[in-house]
Amino acid sequence: MKILAIDTSCDETSVAITNERRVIANVIFSQIAYHKPFGGVYPLIAKREHLTKIKPAINIALKRARLSEQDLDAVAVTFGPGLAPALEVGINSAKTLAIKNKIPLIPVDHIEGHIYSSFVNNQKNKPSREFVFPIISLIVSGGHTEIIILKNQLEYQILGSTLDDACGEALDKAAKILNLGYPGGPIIEALARKTEIEKFSLPLPMLKSNDLNYSYSGLKTAFKRLVENLSEKEKLESINELCSTFQKASFRHLLNKFELAIKQNDIKTIVAGGGVLDNQNLRKLIRGLAKKYSLPIYFPSFKYLSGDNAAMIGVVAFFKYQKGIILKSEKEISKLDRIPRANLNYWRLKNI
Ligand code: KG4
Ligand code: ZN
Repeated sequence: MKILAIDTSCDETSVAITNERRVIANVIFSQIAYHKPFGGVYPLIAKREHLTKIKPAINIALKRARLSEQDLDAVAVTFGPGLAPALEVGINSAKTLAIKNKIPLIPVDHIEGHIYSSFVNNQKNKPSREFVFPIISLIVSGGHTEIIILKNQLEYQILGSTLDDACGEALDKAAKILNLGYPGGPIIEALARKTEIEKFSLPLPMLKSNDLNYSYSGLKTAFKRLVENLSEKEKLESINELCSTFQKASFRHLLNKFELAIKQNDIKTIVAGGGVLDNQNLRKLIRGLAKKYSLPIYFPSFKYLSGDNAAMIGVVAFFKYQKGIILKSEKEISKLDRIPRANLNYWRLKNI
């Protein structure tokens, strides 16, 4: 079953061809260079770049898979959450492809993609991990910080999410405060790696709340204040310690709530995904937690699967197709709209 999947939710134009859980081709055009001067993603530039790159990305993916449009069984697309003008570009291209080739369109939630990213296989259909439910998932990216339980195939229970900034967004803002560039997460990781010393202290957010939500905006403000109170010389001399302090505090908050979620629920497997999972320190901390609770832990098997990519969208689409969660008629397909603040249970609520 060959699916062409599209994700244009943020700043990567990605198109993949998948067959069940196997990725045949995956193309990603990153826009980071265009957003760098703004220190964050600029929605209208994202739209402009998606518009120029979407057709080439589709053509390259088909060429790499040695397929033509007529060989496709379905088209899948991210309908949300994400930036409205960016989502729109992918949705329009997906609709055109589906209608023109008379094949179904499968709408996928971007977060579903990140949850399934640990179950995406390569060309040789490896690593082919088993789904042992319930699976707890920690999604950490520039736009999301969420704890979700996958109770069964495509059945979600959202346990917690961020009340303000996402963890990746906070790392990007901390890097901006230190004038380190964008995206900040990898830069902070590289500098933090140079020291183990936690010279400064930052508060642990939401210490008294017993829920499973996150909050990063207070941590960012505390960090800003800390940096403002240092002289330029002190700042330069302690740059590694500052990065290490912020990274440690961010991940402590992340793990604190995640451990609470594991303790409170009957869990069989842990998975984690999203751009921040590129961070080796974070992976180590999550591995430690998995060991403590004797649970198997799966991360996305290949680097490109942590960040935004269409391969994970294609794999979710396969499970949706099996359950008949698809749009078939031209009328249904035409009606699909972007949902920038989509919620994981959207399709369930709509009873489709
Ligand atoms: O998943 P992603 O590519 O895009 C979104 O959907 O947001 O995640 C991007 C985020 C950025 O905030 C970036 O700073 C962060 O992931 N990131 C990292 C690392 N690599 C990317 N954060 C910490 N350590 C890294 N190595
Ligand atoms: Zn994402």
